[in-house]
This record gives sequence, C-alpha cells and structure tokens, in this order.
Amino acid sequence: NKYVVIMAGGTGTRLWPVSTSQKPKQFHDLLGVGKSLLQMTYDRFATHFRKENIFIVTNKDYEGLVQEQIPDIGEDQLLLEPNKRNTAPCIAYAAYKIASRNPDAIMVVAPADHLILKEEVFHQAISIAVDSASKQDQLITLGMHPNRPETGYGYIQYIPDSAALKKVKTFTEKPELELAEKFIESGDFVWNAGIFIWSVKSIIASFEKFLPDLAEIFSDGDEPYYSANEKLFINKAYTQCMNISIDFAIMEKAENVYVLLMDIGWSDLGNWDSLHEIREKDIDNNVKPDNVLCFNATDNIVTLDQSKLVVIHGLQNYLVSEQNGVILICKKNAEKEIKEMVNSVKNQK
Ligand code: GDD
Ligand code: MG
Repeated sequence: NKYVVIMAGGTGTRLWPVSTSQKPKQFHDLLGVGKSLLQMTYDRFATHFRKENIFIVTNKDYEGLVQEQIPDIGEDQLLLEPNKRNTAPCIAYAAYKIASRNPDAIMVVAPADHLILKEEVFHQAISIAVDSASKQDQLITLGMHPNRPETGYGYIQYIPDSAALKKVKTFTEKPELELAEKFIESGDFVWNAGIFIWSVKSIIASFEKFLPDLAEIFSDGDEPYYSANEKLFINKAYTQCMNISIDFAIMEKAENVYVLLMDIGWSDLGNWDSLHEIREKDIDNNVKPDNVLCFNATDNIVTLDQSKLVVIHGLQNYLVSEQNGVILICKKNAEKEIKEMVNSVKNQK
C-alpha cells in the first residue's frame, strides 16, 4: 500500500531562459546526464515502488511532455490540473484519488526537480518514514543540514532526540533574510527538503482541519475518481481551489509534524548557483560544453543549445545561457533579478 506522488507542475522561473513556462526545469536534462530531472525522479522511485502506484501530478499543458518522457505512466496515474494552484491542491487531488483506491495507503510526495546523490540512503529514509507513518498519525518530512541563509526554503526547528525521526517544534516557510540568518546562526534549524511521507488518512485529516474548503471540494463523493467524470469534476474543483502551498497551508500549522534527518546528498537545483555547484567543472571552475573556450574566465556557467564556437574572456561568476533563441548574460547569482526579467520580458519565449 505504498504510493508515490511526483509533483511536476511548477514553472522554475529562476532557471530562465532554460526553464520556461512552456517547458519548465523538471523536463530538462539540467545535469547533462541524458535524462530530465523528472525522468531521474521517476526512475529513483520505480526501483522501489510498484510502477502502478506511482502518480504524477502536473498541469494539463505538460501532458505531452510527461507522456513522452515517462512512457510507462498509465493514463490513470497522470493527474492533470487545469490551473496552477501550487502544491496544496495538487496534494489534495492525489490524496483523495489514492484514498478512493486504498484508504490505508501511505503516500510519499516528492518534487520532480531535485537531485539526490545518495539513493540508497534516500530509500532507507523513505522506508523508515513509511514504516512510521503507517503506524502513527504523523506528517513526516526530510530535513537537510543548511549551509546558507537561503530564503526560498522552509526552516524546521525540532525537539532534540536521539532517534532519527524528531518531533517538529516550528516550521517557517520562506522566511525573510534576517530571520533566515538568525535561524542559521542559532544552529537549531534544518531545511525542509519538500519530500513528505504520510498516510492518506493523516493528510486528509489535516486538509479537513486546516483547509476545510479544499477538503470539501475534493471529498465531494468518491465516485468521480473512478468514473469518466473525473475530468469534469477536477475542472470544477480547480476553479474553486485557493492557490497555496502545502508548506504554508499545513506544515506551518500542524502539530503532528516530524522530521527525519539523514544525509541523502540533496540539492534543490533551484537556481543557477546551485546548478554550478553540482555540475562538473573545468580547472577554472567553469561549467561549460566543449564548444565554449574560456580565457581568464572563472566560476562561470555556460549553457548553449547549439554547437557554435563561443569564446569567453575575462568573465567571473557569470551565467551565459542560450535557449529557444533567447540569450541571457548576467551574474550567476542574479536569481531575484532573473525573476523580475522574466516578468518584464514580454512574449517571453
Ligand atoms: N502539480 C503541481 N501543481 N506541481 C506543482 C505546482 C502546481 O501547481 N506548483 C509547484 N509544483 C511542484 C514543483 O514542480 C516542484 O516539483 C514542487 O511542486 C515544489 O514546488 P516549488 O515551487 O519548487 O516549491 P519551493 O521550492 O518554492 O518550496 C518547496 O521546496 C523547498 C525545497 O526545495 C517547499 O516545500 C520548501 O519548504 C522547501 O524548503
Ligand atoms: Mg522548488
């Protein structure tokens, strides 16, 4: 009764121009390994879970991309959302769907766009969490040791305990920089990896408690999830859903949150800096394809979609990225500015 839900409907704007709303980052081979992040995520689970128990939730616009990249996914396992409403509705859709098949199911919820280097440790962690969530009413998340005051993550403070699974004291989603700095200084906090484990019973109870409107929308009878009416039902449901993440909606508020601390070699790959960190570099610390020649240039990341000869001189810490006829040249840590640029570049490709 173990199920996986892969959330693959986000847009990943901070990695523009490679990641676009037409083809967000999870569908790209960002690591240069011949597989997209979604394919890596699917493969990671397919070795340990029954394939028919793996669900992918994404926007209807990406149906073709998912089918092309994950041909094994059955029609009934691909949950298509008519609107982008962040992760709470996405998780509710999957939870109620799975509950209609198996009310005793345990659900592992995972983002489609992360890197996990230590797969064996990851599966150990998942199995500890699945085991615990099947016995107790717990909302379990994986905690990662932080190394900078990143404001894009959730911060978890836990009650110290010798066991790997610890009770969470506070959960703060995306704090302001000042607060993030305090958290890091105190040494008491870990990052939320955004990978969740719970029983469908526990998460549905949390929806009922913290998002009763959403619970009501999705619990409107089991029957739609079995029938040809599912699409109609979901189209209507999503027009009524609020736009909110599971972190703000439930994880910050619930009392039964637990965190499992294990080093799974995690990276969020959320921005160009983190991609630079993880990828193979030349002696001058540049990430680049062979058709790019660098002179007196260090710490850059260059991604090009065509085989042109490109010569770079004197650049430090830059991103040079070409995708779909757009070229972006900027400091590689300009993630805030990239978000703004994407918004203001009209007819963004
Ligand atoms: N199906 C679907 N629909 N998926 C979505 C949607 C949606 O509307 N919105 C986002 N997703 C997917 C994304 O593609 C990603 O795989 C995952 O859900 C998480 O969404 P993000 O938008 O990437 O969240 P985040 O990175 O800002 O924050 C989350 O992850 C951090 C770690 O990477 C939070 O859980 C943080 O607390 C956490 O630290
Ligand atoms: Mg993310």
